[in-house]
Amino acid sequence: MTDLRLICVAGARPNFMKVAPLIRALAESPFRATLVHTGQHYDDAMSGQFFRDLAIPQPDYFMGVGSGSHAQQTAAILTGFEPIVQEVKPAGVVVVGDVNSTAACALVAAKLNVPVIHVEAGLRSFDRGMPEEINRLVTDSISDLLLVTEESGRRNLEAEGVPEKRMRVVGNLMIDSLRFHIDRAASSTVLERLQVPERYGTVTLHRPANVDDPARFLEILSALKTISEELPLYFPVHPRTRGIVESAGLAEAGGIRLIEPQGYLDFLRLMSRSALVLTDSGGIQEETTALGIPCLTLRENTERPITIELGTNRLAGVTKDGILRAWKMEKAEPKQGKIPPLWDGHAAGRCVNALREFYAGRPTG
Ligand code: UD1
Repeated sequence: MTDLRLICVAGARPNFMKVAPLIRALAESPFRATLVHTGQHYDDAMSGQFFRDLAIPQPDYFMGVGSGSHAQQTAAILTGFEPIVQEVKPAGVVVVGDVNSTAACALVAAKLNVPVIHVEAGLRSFDRGMPEEINRLVTDSISDLLLVTEESGRRNLEAEGVPEKRMRVVGNLMIDSLRFHIDRAASSTVLERLQVPERYGTVTLHRPANVDDPARFLEILSALKTISEELPLYFPVHPRTRGIVESAGLAEAGGIRLIEPQGYLDFLRLMSRSALVLTDSGGIQEETTALGIPCLTLRENTERPITIELGTNRLAGVTKDGILRAWKMEKAEPKQGKIPPLWDGHAAGRCVNALREFYAGRPTG
């Protein structure tokens, strides 16, 4: 196979841990990678720190799209990305995850007749109120090669009529990063810096449905306050969540300690020593399962059901009663999780193999 150039897109925080192992694996393959950062996330704490922690090379293109409404942000990515694809003339565009950058860049590539490869394809929450669900549906429907993290993804794609030959279950790139960096994370000094006690929990909340609606946020908060009387909680506050945290006067809540967003290694350290993680993030449901740490997901659904079927995750819902019930169940009967198939740290190699198969025999000009 001659050298084939692939554009790899990274836009927002959860993309970076998926792109890092892929870029490393591509460097040792016949493929050449051009890294494009859309700039959907741009603060050092949300982007630069992750590039340093994960040793991702500087992007070849930084689009600097920044924040805005969904339409504004998506439009900026569409118009910014098109000339890059025209200039680079790649053999394919690789997009990861489910953020606005994923869907927008996939759309640009598909319209330019450039094959789209979607990593983390097929996940479905079946909740179209989530912007990520729309991004997943749009991206998968125009992707040429769909790389899947868990069996539910394969089943969902099959049910949507995607032919078997276009998909591969490759495992989980985010867990590649976790396994690659877990030893380095052990030397993070975050626990000492924050003077974290022996037993504590970690909280993250940033879903619009949870943090843009004050009634919903206060309901969740009230459950967190009760839990924090027994288990001190450390809460790195996402920029989206900052405003509501301040207006809710959360700074005064006794057992909840608000902290700045953490870098990759510090957060991995904080999470890996937690007695419990409470989150509405997608990726953290997977990372806690990989680490064997109990996780209560503060949502009514998950697009990552394997973390419940096999892992340490429980769906706690978003009511105070539901969250406290899940917490009591976890205390009474701690969930013993197993590691899902192919979450073994070698997903990037399988992605590259799937790419090789995809391009073998394809016209390259
Ligand atoms: C985005 C993704 C979400 C992902 C999350 C992880 C979409 C639709 N959402 O949500 O799936 O789980 O990233 O963090 O793509 N902001 C900053 N600094 C930054 C970036 C954002 O201050 O570097 C603030 C801005 O006020 C912005 C807000 O955070 O308006 C939300 O950012 P945005 O990129 O729109 O979505 P996220 O909530 O971060």
